[in-house]
Amino acid sequence: MKNNGIFETNVIMNFLEEINRRRTFGIVSHPDAGKTTLTEKLLLFGGAIQEAGAVKSQKIKKSATSDFMEIEKQRGISVSTSVLAFNYRDIKINILDTPGHKDFAEDTYRTLTAVDSVIVVIDVAKGVEEQTEKLVEVCKMRKIPIIVFINKLDREGKDGFDLLDEVEKKLNFKVCPLSFPIGMGYDFQGVYNLWEKNIMLFKEENKQKISESIKINNIDDPIVKELVGENAANKLVEEIEIINEVYPNFSEEDYLNCKQQPVFFGSALNNFGVKELLDCFISVAPPPTRKNSDERIVEPNENKFTGFIFKIHANMDPKHRDRLAFIKIVSGRFKRNTPYLHVRSNKKFKFSSPNAFFAEKKEIVNESFPGDIVGVHDSGNFKIGDSFSEGEKIIFKGIPSFSPEHFRYINNLDPMKSKQLAKGIDQLMDEGVAQLFILEMNGRKIIGTVGALQFEVIQYRLEHEYGAKCSYENLNIHKACWIETESNKSVEFLDFKKLKYKFLAKDKSGELVFLADSSFTLEMTKQKYPSLKFHNKSEF
Ligand code: G4P
Repeated sequence: MKNNGIFETNVIMNFLEEINRRRTFGIVSHPDAGKTTLTEKLLLFGGAIQEAGAVKSQKIKKSATSDFMEIEKQRGISVSTSVLAFNYRDIKINILDTPGHKDFAEDTYRTLTAVDSVIVVIDVAKGVEEQTEKLVEVCKMRKIPIIVFINKLDREGKDGFDLLDEVEKKLNFKVCPLSFPIGMGYDFQGVYNLWEKNIMLFKEENKQKISESIKINNIDDPIVKELVGENAANKLVEEIEIINEVYPNFSEEDYLNCKQQPVFFGSALNNFGVKELLDCFISVAPPPTRKNSDERIVEPNENKFTGFIFKIHANMDPKHRDRLAFIKIVSGRFKRNTPYLHVRSNKKFKFSSPNAFFAEKKEIVNESFPGDIVGVHDSGNFKIGDSFSEGEKIIFKGIPSFSPEHFRYINNLDPMKSKQLAKGIDQLMDEGVAQLFILEMNGRKIIGTVGALQFEVIQYRLEHEYGAKCSYENLNIHKACWIETESNKSVEFLDFKKLKYKFLAKDKSGELVFLADSSFTLEMTKQKYPSLKFHNKSEF
């Protein structure tokens, strides 16, 4: 009995240690800022890959509309880069891939439901770009702690302070620089690391090596002048003074509560400043965090398994319709060959060959812990957002749909294949390729996507995977808004439904959506019906 007790204590200790040593995060950026390059360098530190280029060769290139099949093919390959896991020191790091191509932004939004923190990469010359703003908005909504990495310091770019200002203004951040560049572009000499109080000197030939840093006791140390020259040293002293006066000290609590964002400067391509970023990251970034469900908050250290699907990846081979569903483990241990409740269907499923991801390989695992991602085979039963448990009817929150940017009617071109078309549309929507809205007025189907490219992808896949042909019809819609009303019977709501019946549709969960044809109409409608709330996402 006593022995059993000790055994159990050890098991619990191990379980807690396993949770605490995990860091699951995503890297987000505007295309070309350096996300792939940074990911690759992080993998080098973990010894997960031997050479640079391994991730890059699998990345989705920013292609023109016409080669969407190429993109889809690369998406097929990119299953293995969907999760990149590696050990660094004692920490198990899970990087969740967030597609850089803007047409797959919806994938990225959803991946953000499964991360515990985020690193935002910004190009020193371009500053804060459009896609970064959108992605950061989603992170903030979910209160995800964020670290900023300003990249490409080896190139001419904006002044360090101007950039910090821009980041604060455009992203509405409270920044806290933890490193600062010494010179820039042609004059770039290195960075002063405020976090570890040392200087790293930049030597271009260090590309594949991990550069050494030079410890200094304080910024006035004469060694600084020796290292970078008198002018640069004097300038640095002034700059660090300004930083100390203007910016707050680093507060782990504020960072974790999304009230402060630490900033690092470096050059991913030259492997410069990456180790500093990683060392700070593993010490401050949160281990797997609790998650809200419809009924209660689920803590990672609960002993019963719960998890949810945040991504479904179609098999690119049409002969094998099986899909890979990615489950983020929220609590407890996930075990192979154990029946778990799929809450939406109220059926039990057990997985005989769950995949875990390590470096760029996937392998079958017997057991996984909170923070980890497992890939399970799905023959068409699962949807993004579905939860699994040991019996509890839990539904996780925070997996909303966002208003698409493009809308088109979808028509069946072959009346003999209407069943196939309906099935194909359903399954592609479950995968999250696009969103389906059904008009209240006449039951017509409308497809909404984030990027225009998705329409071609859907058409191609319907034909090749389901044998169904479709055509599209343009539709002038500005935004889809989910409606919140205090009462379904209020006079205002009933009047709104009557007046706008032509623009009302149901989403995949049967929620009411207003399809506004212009921003003007939307504004006018909001003014006319002040008691109704119009949300641009499905959860509020
Ligand atoms: P992304 O995933 O965010 O889209 O960006 P990616 O890493 O692919 O980087 C975009 C381009 O920027 C790449 O060049 C990459 O080599 C370059 N880059 C990344 N980090 C740095 C840096 O620190 N300094 C400089 N000077 N360049 C950097 P490319 O020519 O588009 O691609 P490739 O031919 O190198 O593959």
